[in-house]
Amino acid sequence: MVKDSVNKQTLQMLKEKLDKGLMPQWVVTDPDIYQLERRKIFGQTWQFIGHESELKEPGSYVTRWIANDPVLLVKTNSGEIKAYLNSCTHRGAHLCTADFGNKKTFTCPYHGWSFNLEGELIGVVSGKTVYGEKMKKDEWGLRPIPKVGMYQGLIFASLDHQAMPLEDYLGDMKWYLDILLGRSDGGMEVIGVPQRWTAQANWKMTQENFASDPYHVQTNHRSTVELGISPSDPNFASYGHQIVLGNGHGLSIMTSKTGVSPYKYQTLPESMWPMFERNLSPEQNEILSNATVFVGGIFPNLAFDSPVHGMEGEMCNYLNLRVWRPLGPDKVEIWCWCLVDKAAPEEYKDKAYKAYVGSFGPSGTLEQDDTEVWARIIQVNDALMMEDKELSYNNLNNYLLGEDVFEPVDNFPGPGIAYPSTYTDNLARSIQSRWFELISKDLLDEEEDSQ
Ligand code: FES
Ligand SMILES: [Fe+2]
Repeated sequence: MVKDSVNKQTLQMLKEKLDKGLMPQWVVTDPDIYQLERRKIFGQTWQFIGHESELKEPGSYVTRWIANDPVLLVKTNSGEIKAYLNSCTHRGAHLCTADFGNKKTFTCPYHGWSFNLEGELIGVVSGKTVYGEKMKKDEWGLRPIPKVGMYQGLIFASLDHQAMPLEDYLGDMKWYLDILLGRSDGGMEVIGVPQRWTAQANWKMTQENFASDPYHVQTNHRSTVELGISPSDPNFASYGHQIVLGNGHGLSIMTSKTGVSPYKYQTLPESMWPMFERNLSPEQNEILSNATVFVGGIFPNLAFDSPVHGMEGEMCNYLNLRVWRPLGPDKVEIWCWCLVDKAAPEEYKDKAYKAYVGSFGPSGTLEQDDTEVWARIIQVNDALMMEDKELSYNNLNNYLLGEDVFEPVDNFPGPGIAYPSTYTDNLARSIQSRWFELISKDLLDEEEDSQ
């Protein structure tokens, strides 16, 4: 079915266009492409499912999703972090339906089977009376998620038994995650609980927006300039570098026009600076002290934003993590975390959380601008003319920003290919190229094999 509608010819045409910086518009919301993405991207990549600070005590748990796969993430009595498929092994009911909490056992709401933190089946209602001696409880434990890994407190999981080690998957992104999450003693902590809401949007477009598209800021977030929250210089979001890291990961690091941030160390209190100097390399310190915003993405659907925000005189920094959980080709569930340095003063954390809610929370100023425009992409993509796989109408989205204008710089202090402006589509194209590699690989091989 999928093979017929996204055949080799279509994939080859797609590759040809992507190589030229052009994305056929039908691809964004195509249902067959979406089915490929579900299996070949969400079924195989590492997915962010939580932060270690969300699991404070033994018995702490949160429930999450990897696209349509329900995940129960727990801290066991020995302090280990484990992830199970959140579905009962009796008849498959959704086992734990709460968002978070602390429990010693999970009891299924359907027939009452219960499981401990190790995922073992420990209670069967009427037990031996109805199952006799044949029932072996140790064969009916919860199914573990095949791979779980952690880096700088970020917990990832993969549905693929063959997934490469997490650290290899993150690659050079680790160097930048060290700046964002490893600068302070004790790391970062999640403030409050993740907020979540649904939006009419495609996950590729939302990821691209955060990971690789500072070019939209001056227009789509124009109201923040009018409100005096953002600088009036129309190019303010372009100053800095865009860094392509491979594997579909990358980020933009913004600064001022002069390269020196007016908010040293992103407004974090001066008492914390010696800690940053101790925990980070001189190169990482140089970047952190002069950055106004870090914004980027870990392929496929984890984005982050670490800005300076807030009312004048009350500016502060937070780290916003967001997962675009696809609910179809035209709908996402947005999961949004606010993290602040555990070592920051309590009063700073309060300010930072308020700044997050006012900017990138569901009712935040910047969030609403983006949500509106993502829905408009979906609405027009329903048009008959967009179904045009032959491209009779030349329906191609443009990824040519910065082409022939910016060459990589050779003196950037961090790893990756760094461009001297954030207004470039190099990272977007690298994300697309990884996306294409994953959705097409087996399909092209299978077809080649059958010829
Ligand atoms: S489905 Fe869970 S106990 Fe029956
Ligand atoms: Fe935006």
